[in-house]
Amino acid sequence: MPCTCVVGLQWGDEAKGKVVDVLTDHHEIVVRYNGGPNAGHTVMTGNKTFKLSILPTGVIRPNVISIIGNGVVINPTRLREELSQLLKNDIDIGKRLVISDRAHVIFPYHVEQEKITESKQGQGIGTTGRGIGPCYQDKVGRVHAIRTGELHQHTHLKQRLDSVVEFKNKLLRGFNPEAVQFDPEKLADEFHEHGQFLKPHLANTVTLLHQEFKAGKNILFEGAQGSLLDVDHGSFPFVTSSNSITAGIGSGSGLPSRYVTKVIGILKAYTTRVGKGPFPTELDDGPDGIGERIRKIGREYGTVTGRPRRCGWFDAVAARHSAMINGVDEICVMLLDVLSGLSELKIATAYELDGNRITHFPTDSRELDRCKPVYETLPGWDEQLTTVTKITDLPASARKYADRIGEILELPVKLISVGPDRSQTIFTGRV
Ligand code: IMP
Repeated sequence: MPCTCVVGLQWGDEAKGKVVDVLTDHHEIVVRYNGGPNAGHTVMTGNKTFKLSILPTGVIRPNVISIIGNGVVINPTRLREELSQLLKNDIDIGKRLVISDRAHVIFPYHVEQEKITESKQGQGIGTTGRGIGPCYQDKVGRVHAIRTGELHQHTHLKQRLDSVVEFKNKLLRGFNPEAVQFDPEKLADEFHEHGQFLKPHLANTVTLLHQEFKAGKNILFEGAQGSLLDVDHGSFPFVTSSNSITAGIGSGSGLPSRYVTKVIGILKAYTTRVGKGPFPTELDDGPDGIGERIRKIGREYGTVTGRPRRCGWFDAVAARHSAMINGVDEICVMLLDVLSGLSELKIATAYELDGNRITHFPTDSRELDRCKPVYETLPGWDEQLTTVTKITDLPASARKYADRIGEILELPVKLISVGPDRSQTIFTGRV
């Protein structure tokens, strides 16, 4: 009963979507267990590009059942927009999408609430602005939380929103006398209609997953965001609000994490991050610098917000931390093609913190901010890699670079990606 997890080992956007898409050939069920419409997955198949934020990447494969687990937060409007995008491309996922009736719902007041904290001088962490944090706050706070399974019950929903909206309106006006005010009746009607739409897709996904697991189905868990954005183990407070690491599988899907038989860690051949927060290997070297070159060639702009991603050298200290907390078995090195044409490449193998050399990822983000990377330099290559399909056809320096990443992390490299298309994938044959 193979149960695999694909998890990002950096600050998100590691091209997990492509790996999930490549692997769904061998899987019958794909599960998202954390995050919400803050995730951005770009999947290319043939000449079509799909930008998904809430739907699991597996949805575009026929016969794959996609499950959105209880750990995910759902904005029904966005979910429906994504479904329409697929329908326009003749992908009707119909009964193949199953959503947990325990997943929490993002309401428009969550987005407004987030605007307040993000705009307060010095408080903002550079979120995607999708109301993710406030929705998870309500989940943990319990009193104001509303779950998908409640939306289709109109009277109940109206009662809940009457008290929740009164609180939210006061909160919003307390910070800003001009703040938007919500009408509980209108919201109840709007979200009840969403509830009717979602109802055929809702299920107790916990029992469903256990049944499928017992039936021997191949299940693939799709981590959203990256491990360094994990609320417990990432670069807190510059993180997201959920457990993006493999530990989130048990709580976010109801299938115990120990059932996962293989953890595949996804890494870009360099590092990126969006939003604020420390980034020791960042290349802030101007419009003609290597950072900008990587951004241009790698098209490093956020899928959700369009923000330019901050780019930098591969950070093996951070990646080692992520590999450790996820229990990674093998890694995929993505976007290696982007590094062609650089005379030399750097990998941070340690940090210097206040005059001391350290090899662990610091807990305190202010310490991480003071860390100076200690680099190892490797030779670059000039050749374009986008048409390479065999490991033996890679230029020696490119192969050496990918191998070195595996060597430092003490993990086998399963595949190397040299372009967004499925065909631009080199299987190393090592795992
Ligand atoms: P939030 O998840 O919208 O609350 O944003 C918190 C932090 O996580 C911000 O720095 C976001 O840019 C970052 N973030 C959230 N989701 C993603 C993602 O899928 N990729 C990259 N960064 C993300």
